[in-house]
Amino acid sequence: MLPFLGLLLALSSLASCTTIAEIQGSSFSSPYAGKKVTGVSGIVTAKSPSGFWISSASSTKGAASSGLSVYTTTESVLSQVKVGDSISLGGTITSYRSSKSPNDLFVTQIEDPAGITVHSSSNKVEPVVLGKDRSPPTGQLSALDQGADGFLSVPNNGSLVERSNAALQPDKYGLDFWQSLSGMLVTIPSPVGVDFSDRYGNFWVRGDWSVTGQNSRGGLSMIRGSDGLPTPHPDEIVIGKPLDGSKNPKVAIGTTLSDISGIVQYEYGYFTILPLTASSVKGVPSATVPASTIKSSNDACTVSLGDYNVENMSPTSDHMGAVATHIAKFLNSPDLVFVQEIQDASGDADDGTVDANVTLSNLVAALSNAGSPFKYAFADINPINDQDGGKKGGNIRQAYLYNPSKLSLVGNSPVGGSSDATKVVKDNAGQLSLSYNPGRIDPSNSAWKSSRKPLAAAWKTTSGARFFTVNLQLVAKLDSSSIWGDARPPINAWVDERTKQVEIVSSFVKSILDADPNASIVVGGDCNEFTFTTSVFESLTDQLTEADEAANIAPEERYTYVYEGISQQLDHLFVSKAIVGRKVNVEHVHVNTWASSVDTRASDHDPTVMQMKVC
Ligand SMILES: *[C@@H]1O[C@H](CO)[C@@H](O)[C@H](O)[C@H]1NC(C)=O
Ligand SMILES: *[C@@H]1O[C@H](CO)[C@@H](O)[C@H](O)[C@H]1NC(C)=O
Ligand SMILES: *[C@@H]1O[C@H](CO)[C@@H](O)[C@H](O)[C@H]1NC(C)=O
Repeated sequence: MLPFLGLLLALSSLASCTTIAEIQGSSFSSPYAGKKVTGVSGIVTAKSPSGFWISSASSTKGAASSGLSVYTTTESVLSQVKVGDSISLGGTITSYRSSKSPNDLFVTQIEDPAGITVHSSSNKVEPVVLGKDRSPPTGQLSALDQGADGFLSVPNNGSLVERSNAALQPDKYGLDFWQSLSGMLVTIPSPVGVDFSDRYGNFWVRGDWSVTGQNSRGGLSMIRGSDGLPTPHPDEIVIGKPLDGSKNPKVAIGTTLSDISGIVQYEYGYFTILPLTASSVKGVPSATVPASTIKSSNDACTVSLGDYNVENMSPTSDHMGAVATHIAKFLNSPDLVFVQEIQDASGDADDGTVDANVTLSNLVAALSNAGSPFKYAFADINPINDQDGGKKGGNIRQAYLYNPSKLSLVGNSPVGGSSDATKVVKDNAGQLSLSYNPGRIDPSNSAWKSSRKPLAAAWKTTSGARFFTVNLQLVAKLDSSSIWGDARPPINAWVDERTKQVEIVSSFVKSILDADPNASIVVGGDCNEFTFTTSVFESLTDQLTEADEAANIAPEERYTYVYEGISQQLDHLFVSKAIVGRKVNVEHVHVNTWASSVDTRASDHDPTVMQMKVC
């Protein structure tokens, strides 16, 4: 009985027609996945060497897309259709991933197309005009990003888009919006670049629709949206490889482009527009990056402080001169500079060298050449060979560069060794100091495994005022998943380790504040995390205030880095109440995020400069 019934069902489904919207369905996976379909009709909107796309003329408003990818590399099949043909065809519905990454979303497509019938040709192919017919939401990417910090909530990877396969809410959520257009031809009017072209020539844009967090350069910054949550920017999209084989232009933040029409397709971790042809550059933003208005002061109580991740700097780095110019001319030679990613004297040769004095001496010489009005002194602590992460053999570490005629390290404490833990102590005069100066904080704690230990120091100005600093480079986000991927919230790799690292630094800060609630303290550097991931920083922000907050920097101008199309802040300075009370001034100097291309940047991070009073 049952086989017969099955045959009847198979016959009836073969005989019927299936619409594209039925195949796409109103959730992420196709209800037809694995099934054979016939009589699927639509107009051919675009072709590529590996297939073509068809679109039915139905509504563009619903959750179910009316566009579909047809996969075939068979020339005799491809040659049967032209763009503008109204056709019907059959085939097997499959779910396809462009990469082996289990974090990619699936693309619904017809494979092995058969029975292609061309009903008419030269039909008008109407794109969905984004910003007019449909506009992307500006809030979260997925309803599954549950938690106090939206897409940055911890723990991560509590659910998977494909497994949950919830009904699409395209008006509310970014992945749902772009899924509801999957396989459709869209136009992006007046696109503006929001990141650098990547090495494949792909780039991120926003279009002429309302966005959130637009900064003065034209990029989109991570800010809190109207829902109170940090935005992962579903209001921008990747432009992929043009379907006609033409070459994308080189794009940077703020590059304006001619309109882009193309197919929405998920590829390599992101919804992407595959343009029919390459767009052209209409305008590039000014190449001039203004220098900071913050200058070193003659007042002994006023200290200017720079912060710069100088990206794997060795004694012979090509980018040393540019970095020196940035510090000397764009940060105006701050009295004290926190630098991160100083490599040892042999660069990334894994030869047992750990000393970085040659690297730092060369940088100091480069700073004099670049016009610093004084000769910087430096302080750092060697890591144990190959124990602090980063490029193997490079032994990257944080260091301080300082103006020795304005600042000195307090007292007679020895410089700490790699494994020495520095502690707050009272000196003979009853003033606070450190047992090792500079010294590392709890360097043997397992939280610092394969990561940079924090470099603490106690300073004195010429007027005798003291302040404390901690220079950080927390463990990086390497191995995180695409924020447009299957895992929700997206995997924020090493977030638990970063949280523990911040807790250790916070205990150290507490030990200073317990001894003197009025202590002047600055903690910061490359934190490899957004303060929007509040769970990472809460132990610290209980005691210190982020300098951007204290200086009231506009939220959209708080960025030092650009990734996945988002201008974002990984570099932070936190200051104690005593400093906040005396007013701080902060500027992020966009010498690198405003570069014309990745190749012309000196580092992947922008530097920051702060002015504070320590008495
Ligand atoms: C994310 O969760 C899925 C499903 O529970 C699991 O298979 C996968 O290994 C997880 N990924 C990571 C990196 O933890
Ligand atoms: C670096 O340190 C080594 C060993 O401590 C020393 O021999 C060398 O002179 C130093 N070089 C510079 C440029 O300071
Ligand atoms: C901290 O500073 C405030 C204001 O300058 C002062 O009133 C207070 O006595 C100080 N507290 C300590 C413990 O030094």
